[in-house]
Amino acid sequence: MPGSRDVASGGALPYVPARGGIPALRRAAADCRGCSLYEDATQTVFGAGRARARLMLVGEQPGDQEDKAGEPFVGPAGHLLRKALGEAGIDEEQAYFTNAVKHFKFAPVTEGRKRRIHKAPNLRELTACRPWLAAEVRRVNPELLIALGATAGKSLLGNSFKVTESRGALLSLASGRDLPLAVDEEEGDGHRRLLATVHPSAVLRAKDREEAYGGLVSDLRVAARFLG
Ligand code: URA
Ligand code: SF4
Repeated sequence: MPGSRDVASGGALPYVPARGGIPALRRAAADCRGCSLYEDATQTVFGAGRARARLMLVGEQPGDQEDKAGEPFVGPAGHLLRKALGEAGIDEEQAYFTNAVKHFKFAPVTEGRKRRIHKAPNLRELTACRPWLAAEVRRVNPELLIALGATAGKSLLGNSFKVTESRGALLSLASGRDLPLAVDEEEGDGHRRLLATVHPSAVLRAKDREEAYGGLVSDLRVAARFLG
């Protein structure tokens, strides 16, 4: 189609409906062409869970199994995350799950390999997809956001955010619900909070998996205490 590349480089904003709740967003996101990742992926994997959740968890992007199922966090990393949430005392049914980027990005498929190999989204793709995440944050309006890994942290708090420097800390956010959000050093009650931790896929890849898993659970316990 002539000019489709131009459309594909413009980001998600023109596709985001001004009205409607999460279901309306999800329907519109199915047709997003805001960057070129839609071309090779099976489908848009939009956020899922409670539309009025107190807790929103943000991952990086769907993986192989999420791409096929159309649901976030249903593969190995999702299983590990759900187990860790349970251990930390957080009811997953009360949460909303989403990703910084809504289409699966993968390396060229090679013969004989069953699972497609995930490729990290670049800054362009992260920026292109951010209007969806921003719209989810506005609609769900959670009290606590959990950034799972560096990509989620950068999408929520800007490109200079470093998960390693603040993981496990309950950060207060300045008012304003547009992304990137800003940390507010003054901890007023009623402030929205953000907690950054490792991505569950990083736990799966870790040399000492048990230790990495323990770290994730202990960060999630901080979130559980805040939620009460
Ligand atoms: N990893 C993510 O970041 N998100 C998913 O939905 C699955 C794996
Ligand atoms: Fe749209 Fe995001 Fe998919 Fe790119 S990755 S096409 S911006 S939904």
